[in-house]
Amino acid sequence: MADIVTVTLNPAVDVATSVEQIIDTRKLRCSAAQRDPGGGGINVARVVHRLGGDSAALYLHGGATGQELQQLIDAEHLAGLGIEITGETRENFSVQETSTGREYRFVMPGPTVAESDVQRCIDQINALGAPPRYLVMSGSLPPGAPVDTYARIARATCAPGTRVVLDTSGPALAAALEAGVWLVKPSLNELRGLTGQPLVSEVEWLAAAEELVRDGRAQIVALTLGEQGAVLVTAERFLRATGLSVQVSSSIGAGDSFVAAMVWALNRNASLDEAFHYGVAAASATLLTAGTALCKQADVERLYREVSSR
Ligand SMILES: Nc1ncnc2c1ncn2[C@@H]1O[C@H](COP(=O)(O)OP(=O)(O)OP(=O)(O)O)[C@@H](O)[C@H]1O
Ligand SMILES: [Mg+2]
Repeated sequence: MADIVTVTLNPAVDVATSVEQIIDTRKLRCSAAQRDPGGGGINVARVVHRLGGDSAALYLHGGATGQELQQLIDAEHLAGLGIEITGETRENFSVQETSTGREYRFVMPGPTVAESDVQRCIDQINALGAPPRYLVMSGSLPPGAPVDTYARIARATCAPGTRVVLDTSGPALAAALEAGVWLVKPSLNELRGLTGQPLVSEVEWLAAAEELVRDGRAQIVALTLGEQGAVLVTAERFLRATGLSVQVSSSIGAGDSFVAAMVWALNRNASLDEAFHYGVAAASATLLTAGTALCKQADVERLYREVSSR
């Protein structure tokens, strides 16, 4: 089994295009669409793979779009563990307005899944032999999945040595944290949603992240702050990295790339500081690429040398 197994319960085929200006009613003539395999965990596995790491993506898929998703994953030579469901995999749609550089992202709900589908994911992970070193659960839950699905999967599949990594939002984030994870990567908006607080200052960001560590919901909190960079909080450490100033083409996949590079680096026995810097570097490298395209390894290595933290 791969060292790093990612779980994507609500994946998508990501369709990205551009148009000069978005205006209502009129036909908007778009550029040729780019189609990529997507969803949090799939993106994480793609970036780990691209960095030379050992990843496998477990995902639910169904219908014609689900088949296309499988083909797109295979085309990247990514180890995919697809579990077929009866519903149709969603397509998400993003449009870049070239006259302003603004990006519009349309996200579909995805097919309704049954509890038995979640159980099949658990069975599949357990059938792989040795438990993974890292189990990365990333992305939204599909309709029908119980709110504590991530906690259930972690409990049912992880050995004591497995490090559970979580990147999700809303009630799914809160429920998974109740069970406790090794590393959580909320964005500032996600942390605001979790705490119900506005979290306007760095002192407040830190206090909220520290509380997650103190009460055992996470051992490591990597809080990403968009253009303001990121902070890392553990029981012993605090690191603050400012954002790199890069030419932002599209921010799609920045958070997924952050998680992927951190886990990839940690799996190679990098220090926490190095892994955190790789997270910022990969997120920044993904900003350079258009639409749903993710980071390139050469950009990650180049930008890594520019990241610093205090
Ligand atoms: N405009 C930007 N300029 C520089 N760096 C950025 C910018 N936007 C994002 N980043 C980098 O990408 C990382 C992740 O971005 P962000 O905090 O927005 O998380 P996200 O997971 O993509 O957000 P969300 O899940 O809420 O959409 C940041 O920590 C930062 O390093
Ligand atoms: Mg995110």
